[in-house]
Amino acid sequence: MWTCFFTLTMILTAIVCSESESVTGSRDSLDSFIYDYTLNTISSPHPLTGKPYQVSLPDNLSDIRVSFIRLRSSSMWRNGVNHSSIEIPPKTKTRPFCTRVDLVYQNLVGDLSSFYYGVPDHTLISPVLGILPYDHSNSSNPSLDLDSAGIRVTFPSIPLRRDRRCVRFDADGTVEFSEVMNGRRESFCIGRKKGHFCIVIPSEKRNDEGRGTAIGIVAGVVAAAMLLGLGVGTAVSRRKRRRRKLEVRSEKGESLGWIWVGQSRMPIGSTIRTQPMIENNYIP
Ligand SMILES: *[C@@H]1O[C@H](CO)[C@@H](O)[C@H](O)[C@H]1NC(C)=O
Ligand SMILES: *[C@@H]1O[C@H](CO)[C@@H](O)[C@H](O)[C@H]1NC(C)=O
Ligand SMILES: *[C@@H]1O[C@H](CO)[C@@H](O)[C@H](O)[C@H]1NC(C)=O
Repeated sequence: MWTCFFTLTMILTAIVCSESESVTGSRDSLDSFIYDYTLNTISSPHPLTGKPYQVSLPDNLSDIRVSFIRLRSSSMWRNGVNHSSIEIPPKTKTRPFCTRVDLVYQNLVGDLSSFYYGVPDHTLISPVLGILPYDHSNSSNPSLDLDSAGIRVTFPSIPLRRDRRCVRFDADGTVEFSEVMNGRRESFCIGRKKGHFCIVIPSEKRNDEGRGTAIGIVAGVVAAAMLLGLGVGTAVSRRKRRRRKLEVRSEKGESLGWIWVGQSRMPIGSTIRTQPMIENNYIP
């Protein structure tokens, strides 16, 4: 019995771990696919140093916008790099050192971003922006790291709110939370290393709020419909009753008088009497 339970627990744990590892693995292979694809698309014969390139990925990855710059590391150290809503400040270096650094900028939108970069119990509310440095001269492992005072990743049209957090995904599977910073018109995240950045909110809280609101709205609509139905029903039956009484009276030759429709008092007979007068106007 206990053995069985233990085995089951082991199996479940194994599934959870391998799942998260496979997600990290698929991210890494996506990143290296994008870098290889970028170099193959651009090189003619080499990317020009300092020139930004836009890269169009195959159709099944067209939700990822990619751009690319090859720079001298000394230039990045002196001037920093401002490109595609990511600001790398001066005095940023690569680890390990390389002469020229290839910077790949990724912008994942839509379902693809939450597929590759889900955070447990959180909902992504921004695209995922990635900055990944490579050393093209290192064929065994071109992947580099960045060492920076603060890479600034800007998310336009994401207003600042208290429950929002920045998340940085590193290549090794590390997920790092930090405060969202407030720009004049936009929010930004600061990271000291490379990776993929996005803004998240706790999903539990949002679900509860959403469920509460939904229940409230449904209850409100049902109540309104019931009240309306009741009101209309009463009004209709009352009017029918009164109409019947009037018909009976008019058949008897009595004057029609007034009826109450809601708040207004209306002469029920007058419309019928004025109709022939309108028709008379058409006669030349
Ligand atoms: C996209 O399509 C290519 C073939 O065109 C395939 O090799 C690759 O695995 C696909 N990638 C994804 C993420 O579906
Ligand atoms: C990047 O922008 C910041 C301010 O937005 C500026 O101080 C810095 O000089 C810029 N760097 C480059 C390389 O353009
Ligand atoms: C290539 O990358 C590996 C891993 O980062 C590093 O240990 C090695 O020194 C690099 N080789 C060169 C020639 O830069």
